[in-house]
Amino acid sequence: MREQLLAAEQIIALDWQPGVLRLLDQRVLPHIQRWLECRDAGAVAAAIRDMVVRGAPAIGIAAAYGVALAARQHLQSGALCPSAFAADLALLAASRPTAVNLFWALARMQACVAQPGEAAEQLQRIEQEAIAIHREDREANLRMAELGAALIRRHHPHPQALLTHCNAGALATGGFGTALGVIRAAALDGLVARVHADETRPWLQGARLTAWELACEGIPVALNADAAAAYLMQQGDIRWVIVGADRITACGDVANKIGTYQLAVCAAYHGVRVMVVAPTSTIDMSIERGEDIPIEQRSGEELLRLAGQPVAAEVEAINPVFDVTPARLIDALVTERGVIERPDRQQLQRLMRAAPAH
Ligand code: MRU
Repeated sequence: MREQLLAAEQIIALDWQPGVLRLLDQRVLPHIQRWLECRDAGAVAAAIRDMVVRGAPAIGIAAAYGVALAARQHLQSGALCPSAFAADLALLAASRPTAVNLFWALARMQACVAQPGEAAEQLQRIEQEAIAIHREDREANLRMAELGAALIRRHHPHPQALLTHCNAGALATGGFGTALGVIRAAALDGLVARVHADETRPWLQGARLTAWELACEGIPVALNADAAAAYLMQQGDIRWVIVGADRITACGDVANKIGTYQLAVCAAYHGVRVMVVAPTSTIDMSIERGEDIPIEQRSGEELLRLAGQPVAAEVEAINPVFDVTPARLIDALVTERGVIERPDRQQLQRLMRAAPAH
């Protein structure tokens, strides 16, 4: 299975060359494929804020490379300039608030920066740390794909319909995805009759990114308006809702793309299982409950206009881009360290204490 999974890795969102981070511009996919080059931390922070790169793990990886770019700049004169470095870290930390992978990656990079050493050696260590964060995310994707597909098989070893929301695929990670990684592995295992992709207003990550990723690999995918999800569940074919996460609290509440909560409520009503697939870098044990997660509010302009064209009356538009699904609505949490069914505080504590599986 692992070889097949590796062969399915076709799309990449980030490409690191020393001194430059190249990002596939996700604002214009799938019709335009263009790469944007970032040469300093400010450019990386802007790319995260403006959604050139998005998805919790990919944001964390981009931020780690942003720190490596800052190191290159501030170590060039022979020593690290702490104040310039702190300003770059602050820029990166302010780029988006909800995905904890951003803060997790920055903390890990900061610890690396704090280690003493001669400039060239320090720079090499910092770049290697960013590369390690990228590589580990890719490995976590592969492990979660295997675990999630095995769980699907255990419940129903036949082709079935799945529903996903937003994009938790190759474009959102350092590998081939969290939720979409599981879906890819399940498809290779003959378990997927069709994937329903919510279009995911207003950025259309489902319509533009998830539908494209799956279609590229010949996995049967059908697009639906977000509002059609309950109707589709009522038809009785869908067995799993499979999504990623931006932040998971100590008790198992999950912040993910706006609309995930209503999917989980509908899924509970219709007897459809909910699987959340996320690496442990998305788990924030410092936050107890979902209501304490900072929820990003983006401009109402994103609802009022589509590709610059007005599509609504000129009224106030409220645009929270994440919501929180309570742990009790989640059937399974799949991480690279293992699967938790009906996640709760005790199980999460045990998982976070466990040694990484690889
Ligand atoms: O606003 P986005 O596109 O960054 O939101 C992305 C999501 O909500 C994803 O579902 C989540 O980050 C998981 S990605 C593996």
